[in-house]
Formats: sequence, structure tokens, C-alpha cells
Amino acid sequence: MRILAIETSCDETAAAIVEEAGGQPKIITNIVASQIDIHKETGGVIPEVAARMHAEVMPAVLGQATKNKTLDFDAVAVTIGPGLIGSLLIGLAAAKTIAQVKNIPFYAVNHLEGHIYSAWLEKRILGASNGSGRQRYNNLIAGKDTSEGLPELPALILIVSGGHTELILMKRHLHYQLLGATRDDAAGEAFDKIARLLDLGYPGGPAISQLAVHGKADEFDLPIALPENDELDFSFSGLKAAVALKVSKMSQPIAAHTKADIATSFQDTVAKTLVRKTLAAIRLNPGIKSFCLVGGVAANTHLRTELTQAINQNHPEITVTIPLIEYCTDNAAMIGAAAIYRSMFSQPDNWYNVQADPSLGLGSN
Ligand code: KG4
Ligand code: ZN
Repeated sequence: MRILAIETSCDETAAAIVEEAGGQPKIITNIVASQIDIHKETGGVIPEVAARMHAEVMPAVLGQATKNKTLDFDAVAVTIGPGLIGSLLIGLAAAKTIAQVKNIPFYAVNHLEGHIYSAWLEKRILGASNGSGRQRYNNLIAGKDTSEGLPELPALILIVSGGHTELILMKRHLHYQLLGATRDDAAGEAFDKIARLLDLGYPGGPAISQLAVHGKADEFDLPIALPENDELDFSFSGLKAAVALKVSKMSQPIAAHTKADIATSFQDTVAKTLVRKTLAAIRLNPGIKSFCLVGGVAANTHLRTELTQAINQNHPEITVTIPLIEYCTDNAAMIGAAAIYRSMFSQPDNWYNVQADPSLGLGSN
């Protein structure tokens, strides 16, 4: 089974061909046309502009993903939500057209399901557990492809993206039990807002993590929200407000080293919060075999390190899987990976009845 996957939920126009090889999704091509340079000018994504860009570059992206139509495929998959409605509709229209004209199976994929299955991409995952040796651990931290085995179920998934922060228990493929979610801002949203506050530009996550290398984490005392031991929900709006309050009391312009200290303290507080909640979820759900960190914020090196170390130290029996950095942020290979599992464990969708849904939740299939 070879699947052409399309992803246009936000500001990346992406297409990929993913193939099932030995029960695992293998990437054949993976094209991402980023709109970052355009949205940098406005300091964020303007939905109308994003949709227009998707429409303009979609033919070229599909051409590259199929190597100028020389690569054939047996099915098509597309993100139907959550995301920006105009952006979603461009990808959906392209996928429906292809499914209709070629008369091939069609898979409507939830964007969050795509992020989850980025941890199952063949030869693109990293594994680490205590008994696995220093080299493997170093590879994980450095973001090198170690081609380790796939995550075993039951798996605990932490999705940290621009729109979502969720802890999910996955006992079977395609079945998702929501253990905790953010009550206000998502982790990535908090990174983006703090970056704006410090005038670091868009997107905020990479800017904060670069600056954070130079700062001191204990310079600013920032709050961890909802710290109770059995509380698996998140809240990041208080953290953002605490940083905003400190910044408002500083004389302007803020010195570069102070900005770095704020970035480091903020990033460390987010990491500590995510570690605390992850360990609580493991404690409250005995029997978890693997932990997967996915979504755009999973590209953060400090977070990758802190979560891997915490699980290795406290639960050496649990394997940690984090996708290579390029598969943490939005891409179509992960949508293809989810569709491969749909093709193995479920049925295709009737494209005629499928609608885009900007606020689609993660249900069970
Ligand atoms: O998954 P993603 O590409 O899109 C959504 O589904 O939202 O995530 C984008 C988010 C943005 O908020 C961005 O600032 C954040 O991921 N991000 C990072 C890093 N790279 C991207 N956050 C922290 N550190 C990074 N290195
Ligand atoms: Zn995403």
C-alpha cells in the first residue's frame, strides 16, 4: 500500500508518499513548502493569506511529492482538521479530486492523529531507555536517526503543538483516551506569545529555544500551574501573564542578557510542567510500555532532553520515542503514517461525505 498524503491545516503546504513496508510506514518522498517567510512580515499567520499560498503552491508540491507524476500510489490521505478552515479546504479539495479521478481509497485524517503517528514513521524514530547505552541516548538528544523499533502499546503520548497540549493513552492502534489537556493556552502558543513579548519575531518556539541557550534558568521564579499530584490538565496562561508582568516592570529596551534569562526560565518552567504531568500520567496508568513526545514543541532540544532523562531515571522500563525534528513540526509524512495504520486496522472514508472541521477533536475510529 502506497499512500499520497496531503497536509494544509495551518501554514505549511505539505505532501508525501508513504508506503507500508513490513507493517511499518516508510517515507518515499516528503515535501514541505513553508510559508514562514511570508508570515514573519505580519508577526503571525493571517488565515486568508495562508489559504491563498496553499492554493498557489499545491500543484508544485504535489508534482515534487510524486516526482513529476512518475511515482504512483494506491490511496490518498488528507488532514480534515483541526486547523484553519480556508487552509484545510485547499488540501481537502485536492485530495478529493485525486481520489475521484483515480478512483482510489480516501482517508480523512485528524491532524492530531498525524502528530501521534509521527512516532511510528519507519526509520525516522528514536528510541531510548535506560538499558540501551549511552550512544543511543546521545543520538536521541542530538536528534540523530537511530532507526530503533516502533513504540509498543500501551503508549503514553504527549502532543505539544501550537494549538494543542494533550496527554493521550493509546492501548490499541487508532484508539485514543484523553488523560489531560490544556485549559487555556497550548504550550506552543505560550512560546509564540512570550517571543512576541520579547520582540523575537515569528515563529516564537525556535527563537526562544535559540536564545535560551545563553540564559540562566533560575534567574526568574515562574509558576508551575495546576501542580497537584493527580492533576493531568495543563494551564499556560498564568505563566504567560507572570512573564508579561515581570517584563512590564522592566526599563525598556530590555538588555539582551535579560531577554535570554527570561527565555531560559520560561522554557525550563514549561519543560518542568510537562515532565511533572507526564510522570503523574505514568504513575496513574500502570502498564505503559512506551512514551512518545510529538508536535511542533517536541522540536525543542531542552524539552527532549528533560523528558528523556526524567523517564530514563524514574521508569527505565519505558521506551522513549521522539521523531526527528523535521517530523515534529507539521508535515504530510505523519498524515501518511496515520493513514497506513488506518489501512491496516480500519476502513477508508467515502470522500463524497467528508467535510473539513476546524475544531475536530481526537475521537476513536
Ligand atoms: O505542530 P506544529 O508545527 O503546528 C501545530 O499543529 O500547531 O507546532 C507549531 C508550534 C509553534 O507554536 C512553534 O512555536 C512551536 O511549535 N515550535 C517550538 C519549536 N519549534 C516549533 N517550540 C519550542 N521550541 C522549538 N524548537
Ligand atoms: Zn501540527
